[in-house]
Amino acid sequence: MSEARRFPVSRRGVIAGGTASVAAANLPWSDVKAQQVERSVEPPSVSVSLNINGEERDLELDTRVTLLDALREHVGLTGTKKGCDHGQCGACTVMVNGERVNSCLSLAVMHEGDEITTIEGLGTPDALHPMQAAFVKHDGYQCGYCTPGQICSAVAVLQEIERGIPSHVTDDLLADMQPTNMEMRERMSGNICRCGAYSNIAEAMADVAEG
Ligand code: FES
Ligand code: FES
Repeated sequence: MSEARRFPVSRRGVIAGGTASVAAANLPWSDVKAQQVERSVEPPSVSVSLNINGEERDLELDTRVTLLDALREHVGLTGTKKGCDHGQCGACTVMVNGERVNSCLSLAVMHEGDEITTIEGLGTPDALHPMQAAFVKHDGYQCGYCTPGQICSAVAVLQEIERGIPSHVTDDLLADMQPTNMEMRERMSGNICRCGAYSNIAEAMADVAEG
């Protein structure tokens, strides 16, 4: 076996590491401490004001905190779920100024002054939002993990259709937009349900759209 394979660390590396250790060992304790403090510099944080479910919230956040983590970890609104944390499942969907957003893909500091609506802001157990009531009526969930995201998305989807915003399956851009089964299913395609409650979710949405 060659020397390089038997000793994966080179002689030069060993000498360099040894020299650094000796140098550190010769430093006074206060200098070592100062070096450690310098290495553990606090991450940058900023103040951000969000209007969450109609309530003004002033937060001090690390600039890398996502809107999802701000809601769950800093505000305590755990209704919004973390599924993939990569923009692939839609479990984290909330509405920002009336439009649906994957909150795991959006930094909280980008939303200064924005109006955020989470599942907690749509209805309460005693006064359900019509979409929440329709999900219950049509059995639009099983485990329920994807449900807050599904409901926020469904509410925003019907508003999109009402505003005439076209989708990938819209045939006639000049005709009045209708909440057809195809339109709703296409627009909900970013919300994954591992339990496969899709047909019941579509029925719930159709019920609200008709209502
Ligand atoms: S957790 Fe955001 S898309 Fe999956
Ligand atoms: S209800 Fe279980 S993942 Fe959708």
